[in-house]
Amino acid sequence: MMKDLFSLKLPAVSPSLLAAEQDHLAAEIQKAASAGAEIIHFDVMDGSFVPATSFFDGEVDAVLPSCPLFSDVHLMVDDPIGVGANFAALGADAITVHLEALEARGIDPKDLRKLIPSPFIGVSLRPGTPVERLSPYLPYVDLILLMSVEPGKGGQKFMEESLPRARAIKKMIVDGGHKILLSIDGGINDMTAKKAIASGVDILVAGSYLYGHSDFASRLRGLIHG
Ligand code: DX5
Ligand code: ZN
Repeated sequence: MMKDLFSLKLPAVSPSLLAAEQDHLAAEIQKAASAGAEIIHFDVMDGSFVPATSFFDGEVDAVLPSCPLFSDVHLMVDDPIGVGANFAALGADAITVHLEALEARGIDPKDLRKLIPSPFIGVSLRPGTPVERLSPYLPYVDLILLMSVEPGKGGQKFMEESLPRARAIKKMIVDGGHKILLSIDGGINDMTAKKAIASGVDILVAGSYLYGHSDFASRLRGLIHG
């Protein structure tokens, strides 16, 4: 069954598997589902766009096609099109590519859907990238993933400067009449989640705040209900 990004209950929490037990990914996905999550986040790193490597060498090939939750794949890679097409073939529901990587390769935003044949497409930006650079992508994407830490690893501190950036992006979406959800990634905990939601964020990606804690389910609920 096709999973619909725009049918998710909002605000939503997308647990990041980067912080999960890597040898038990199927069980870790089930943990998120049991806690009430409808969406789950896969962080793919190629060791070049960011220094680390994760889920890049087939580690998720077994779990992604049968993932019971909406799969939200975040590509931190130099080759968003090649890697994106591979993940689309595995059945990813949404593929989010970095604006900086697209710009570096001279990829035209209007070609994105054709080049990455996944049901939903997202674009992500690093903390230092001006939000205005999103403008050309707005007609062609379903999701914007605002990084609230420098991409590359979990457990970093939320950058408070991300809040005015979230508000500015939300305004661009609303003023332009675009059907786009706003997601935020990095340093999300009970305190920063509240501020992000108040700034217009629809989807909170959270890794180290959830995984590795026995009260995963109540933490997840707390991110939404305070
Ligand atoms: C960082 C990744 C994040 C990471 C978030 O580059 O994109 O998705 O898992 O981790 P926390 O929630 O621990 O900041
Ligand atoms: Zn991520």
